[in-house]
Amino acid sequence: SRVVKLAVIPGDGIGPEVIAEAEKVLDAATAGSSIRFEKTRYALGAGRFLETGDTLTDDDLDAIKDHDAILLGAVGGVPGDPRLKNANIERGLLLKLRFELDHYVNLRPSKLYPGVPGPLADPGDIDFVVVREGTEGPYVGNGGSIRTGTPHEVANETSVNTAFGVERVVRYAFDLAERRRKKLTLVHKTNVLVHAGGIWKRLVDEVAREHPDVTVDYVHVDAATIYLVTNPGRFDVIVTDNLFGDILTDLAGAVTGGIGLAASGNINPDGAFPSMFEPVHGSAPDIAGQQKADPTAAILSVSLLLDHLGLTDEAQRVTTAVEEDIATRSTATRSTAQIGDAIAARLQA
Ligand code: NAD
Ligand code: IPM
Ligand code: MN
Repeated sequence: SRVVKLAVIPGDGIGPEVIAEAEKVLDAATAGSSIRFEKTRYALGAGRFLETGDTLTDDDLDAIKDHDAILLGAVGGVPGDPRLKNANIERGLLLKLRFELDHYVNLRPSKLYPGVPGPLADPGDIDFVVVREGTEGPYVGNGGSIRTGTPHEVANETSVNTAFGVERVVRYAFDLAERRRKKLTLVHKTNVLVHAGGIWKRLVDEVAREHPDVTVDYVHVDAATIYLVTNPGRFDVIVTDNLFGDILTDLAGAVTGGIGLAASGNINPDGAFPSMFEPVHGSAPDIAGQQKADPTAAILSVSLLLDHLGLTDEAQRVTTAVEEDIATRSTATRSTAQIGDAIAARLQA
């Protein structure tokens, strides 16, 4: 029987609550099959930092690397907590994992499931994937400030876009478009960010020549936010940089029924490092510890994880169980565990 080594990072806030349900569903989806998940839990996050002062040690990183995949809830404390300065959890933990494990594809699918109440009056069919670059852009930390704290401060945060880094994520996006509705949209801001935008546009145009049956278009990021609300059905695969992708995918989550449904995968397609699956949302300190969080995003992240491991039947079964649960959701509120139980029960049936 096949053993999959899974690192589980429940994290902070609602992270442990949604991960408990994701694990329930993972167990149900693989019960009685020949695959066995050997799970190791890592207590990382703001909570651990406040206790021990450690964010992500070299030992943590080495241990995590020695897995087939990672399931993460959410990390981060209450925004503005003075004890968590300098983005130490966001940069020192989450982004460090994405960078060190070379998660250059941040895959964020958005689908409007039948029966989901969303904010759009006439949403139409929504089914697109944002391929967000995961290792470059304004996220790399290539910045600094001089005369800090004075009226003469100069602060820079330079976006890094390498031909190597852009081309590989663009290639992934085209390959994905080939397997979908064969439509690819580059989202950027080429009218202002001429250097960063220029390399993205050039490489998309170059790779497009190898994919004559993929229809390619370009949309400025500001206009993309309009279309995501007025005509989200126009999108199939969106490829974009790290920061634009971050912003667009919270919006995408909101128009497809809420951030509680939005799943993601941080993928290392080469397989040199374990890929990491997590809901798009954060630790939601405002609702933490109250069983109010929707675990669906974490559960759909398990489906992405199974799919990535080649367990396509199991992945599909999880997605179907979620779809069925969503279709029968009423206005009655359920706890985090009740939603997880209901979805897991559909897999046992
Ligand atoms: P957030 O996503 O945690 O919360 C935004 C809003 O969405 C809140 O009103 C919250 O209650 C709601 N929400 C989020 N997930 C939900 C769920 N599953 N069900 C129902 N409602 C949900 O974003 P934030 O408040 O900006 O950030 C909180 C902390 O999380 C910060 O420290 C931030 O840096 C961190 N963060 C971490 C990740 C991650 O670990 N991947 C992602 C985003 C933010
Ligand atoms: C996300 C989050 C992270 C990001 C933060 C917490 C570093 O917002 O996963 O979308 O910006 O990528
Ligand atoms: Mn985000």
